[in-house]
Amino acid sequence: MTFKVRPCRDLDEFGQAVFAIGQYFGMEPTEERMERFSKNLPIERMHAALENGTIVGGAGAFPFELTVPGAVVPTAGVTVVGTFPTHRRRGVLRAMMRAQLDDVHERGEPLALLWASEDTIYGRFGYGMASQCAEVSIPRQHSAFARPLEREGTLRIVDAEEALKLFPRVWDAVRRKTPGMLGRSRSWWEFRILFEVPGSGEGAGPKRFVVLERDGRPEGYAIYRHNTKWTEGTADSDLQVVEAIALDGRPTAEVWRFLLDVDWAVRTTASLLPVDHALWWLLASPRYMKPRVGDGLWVRLVDVGEALSARSYATDGAVVFDVIDEFCPWNAGRWRLAGGKAKRTTADAQLRLDVSALGCAYLGAFSFSGLVRGGRVEELRRGAAARADAMFAAERAPSCPEIF
Ligand SMILES: CC(C)(COP(=O)(O)OP(=O)(O)OC[C@H]1O[C@@H](n2cnc3c(N)ncnc32)[C@H](O)[C@@H]1OP(=O)(O)O)[C@@H](O)C(=O)NCCC(=O)NCCS
Repeated sequence: MTFKVRPCRDLDEFGQAVFAIGQYFGMEPTEERMERFSKNLPIERMHAALENGTIVGGAGAFPFELTVPGAVVPTAGVTVVGTFPTHRRRGVLRAMMRAQLDDVHERGEPLALLWASEDTIYGRFGYGMASQCAEVSIPRQHSAFARPLEREGTLRIVDAEEALKLFPRVWDAVRRKTPGMLGRSRSWWEFRILFEVPGSGEGAGPKRFVVLERDGRPEGYAIYRHNTKWTEGTADSDLQVVEAIALDGRPTAEVWRFLLDVDWAVRTTASLLPVDHALWWLLASPRYMKPRVGDGLWVRLVDVGEALSARSYATDGAVVFDVIDEFCPWNAGRWRLAGGKAKRTTADAQLRLDVSALGCAYLGAFSFSGLVRGGRVEELRRGAAARADAMFAAERAPSCPEIF
């Protein structure tokens, strides 16, 4: 069976295409909701799959700015991918991925990234697991810090309007040095971060906003919910951290001290934390966080030459990759990376790998040596993996504190 895949033409088509995945969440594509959603996802960046004129699938791509080591790169943020349950396993997803990656390539966005609902879906289209994230639950009785904290800032509960003025300043400072973090437009803040979709709290209270300031300047903030519960007459509540972002050092410690000390909460829960979060060093007993580590962002190099040339490298050096890319054959073949630029070459290959493995290493989360050990990279010249590791090494673990 063949499907026609093309960009949506109006809000009505947009709603039907988003409903392809929305139905699995019990979502209704009301006009109000779709209008709000389209403020961040342009209608023409939502592809629809049609069978005899009826929409049976959808796949979107946010126009993002992604921080990669040493740079910020225009990137397609793949989202709301779904096939109607009546049309599953007939090639709708494959046809949508084809149209979407061709479109991203034509637009000149060298990277695409996504969060995967299942980790078995996207490897075949060239995406590789490129970051990890940790989910923690910190019991109050084990929340002491290892060292005394010298408080210098002032904490203030603010409303959404004030948060809209203050939080982006902190976000921008932190995101520019954290691979995996994304630029946020005003409408992203308004309609996704600070806006409360009715029923979105999963039983917990509304989002609360707190800002940390020093000398009148914001240095950190947190968005959290009180999930209040009493068991046999005693408080048994969770404090659910939605997002906690602060400058490195004392501001991060101050924001977390606040989140760990709110009365009635017997535990503070958070997810989507970087795996190298400062909590490992702040807490006296970090093992009680009981971290669960999972996959985070999946990255696809849409244009291998552009993508490799866009980031910076920790050391000088050169390496020759032989890239296998069945889905985007324009990338296949040998690339020499030297002096921070990747160029086509006829030199002997040193590392042979699928483009998805290049995605795994791109943000610095995973080493080529580890990928060799896991059978995802073939080392054709001894020492090439270690050399590439030194080049791709990043100062901090990539992290994306938000599922999009
Ligand atoms: C996941 C989903 C989009 C797949 O769509 P589909 O139209 O059935 O997929 P296709 O028929 O085009 O399959 C393409 C390939 O992916 C594979 N595939 C599809 N869904 C898969 C899954 N859930 N797990 C593993 N492989 C999967 C198919 O076997 C096929 O493999 P092949 O090319 O090697 O033959 C669809 O099942 C769906 O909408 N699920 C619920 C929403 C969801 O999870 N969306 C993804 C959000 S990140």
